[in-house]
Amino acid sequence: MRKRLLAGLALAGALALATTGCSSSNNNAGSSGTGGSGGGKTLTVGFAQTGSESGWRAANTQSMKDAFSDANGFKLIFNAADNKQEAQIAAVRSFINQKVDAIVIAPITVDGWDDVLKEAKDAKIPVILEDRTINVSDDSLYAAWVGDDFKKEGETAGAWAKQTATSPTNMVVLEGTTGSAPALDRATGFKAGATGAPITTLDSQTGNFTRADGKTVMEGFLQKYGNKIQMLFAQNDDMGLGALDAITAAGLTPGKDIKIVTIDATHDGLQALADGKFNYVVECNPLLGPQVADLVKKVVAGESVPKTQVATDQSFTQEQAKAALPDRKY
Ligand code: AHR
Repeated sequence: MRKRLLAGLALAGALALATTGCSSSNNNAGSSGTGGSGGGKTLTVGFAQTGSESGWRAANTQSMKDAFSDANGFKLIFNAADNKQEAQIAAVRSFINQKVDAIVIAPITVDGWDDVLKEAKDAKIPVILEDRTINVSDDSLYAAWVGDDFKKEGETAGAWAKQTATSPTNMVVLEGTTGSAPALDRATGFKAGATGAPITTLDSQTGNFTRADGKTVMEGFLQKYGNKIQMLFAQNDDMGLGALDAITAAGLTPGKDIKIVTIDATHDGLQALADGKFNYVVECNPLLGPQVADLVKKVVAGESVPKTQVATDQSFTQEQAKAALPDRKY
């Protein structure tokens, strides 16, 4: 039976790790830091990143490169797949051929991973997943996953929408990459959070997590529905930021004529919120590098690790964004 990683995640039993900003599904997740285990040998690690679609992704890539540095005992082979799954799978195969010590994947989509993960297993190369989850036939095909709870993020956005929609409200949705875990789970979570709200979804289309597509798709929504649109749920900041251009060009005021909720809480997203253009932003923490590097060292050293580690996310109102911006790290 195919299992969705995290489908049965016992979040309730997770322990908060204040020092790492993560919680883990068992209690041997104590972080020893990136240099904490694995001996003195330099570890060669292949990292298959999705691409460079968003501000969140840029911050995640930087966090990974910082953590997998020479000084921390790593040689990092980095690949960004331009959000094309075939290219990402080819990158993983190339890491296997190079006989790396471990492979880290931020999977673009949830499906299609069994074959290449079996090849990695046969080659005795451990795989660690970061950021996004996958559908997999056998949990032993990966050693561990660390990332954010996308469903909870969607629920938080949906709860805000429900609280805000005090009268019948027409909404449009900018979805992330089709078939990706954040697009699927945020949609599910939003629906749950907004249950019972008088919200009608006029349209929902992918903007591929990019500003350019967010703008183009929002232009189409505005041409089709005009000033019927009263709310926008953008599944990431970048699509919401692209939509701002389309909304302004249509002679409408973002944040007032159209209420906007987004997910990520990047610096640019929080700036739009502080400026009154967005109305609410839910965080998705991209600074996962230290936890992933720690996991890799432990897995390669044969230590037991928690199967899942979930980052802690918060959410922001316009006032909270103003307060948070001066210290925002990404
Ligand atoms: O997987 C995390 C998502 O991917 C972020 O929310 C989005 O900005 C990125 O492209």
